Amino acid sequence: MVDHATRRVLLAGVCGAGLGAVSAACGGAAGPPEAGQSAAASPVLLGPVTDVPVDGGKVYETAQVVVVQPQQGVYKAFTSVCTHRQCQVGSVAGNQIACPCHGSKFSAEDGSVLNGPATLPLAAKKVTVENGQFVLSD
Ligand code: FES
Repeated sequence: MVDHATRRVLLAGVCGAGLGAVSAACGGAAGPPEAGQSAAASPVLLGPVTDVPVDGGKVYETAQVVVVQPQQGVYKAFTSVCTHRQCQVGSVAGNQIACPCHGSKFSAEDGSVLNGPATLPLAAKKVTVENGQFVLSD
């Protein structure tokens, strides 16, 4: 479990330092969350940051999240549940998140639809880095 002081430092380092570049992954907040916000969900350890290459990503099926690195050192996360018919997205290459079911593609920058049949973007999720590991916090 991460205490609030440690968590606040990590969120400031990952979500605050990247400024606009990580705003989608940080829920669009301008700064670290207030103490009351962290009680909503239990953090989930996903895996090492080395699993997510630049311009690529990794799908964590159990947690239903895809983590991407559209630019060196900039990590973003989105739901891995496709907005078309709820398949899990399958891969990330060239900063595009692809769904294997019907061919939809989403931007790794903001989750927006690049290619249908999906018409709605992937929702952003909040992921931080703690000790070289991704932690999903909502
Ligand atoms: S469920 Fe993803 S494209 Fe249809």
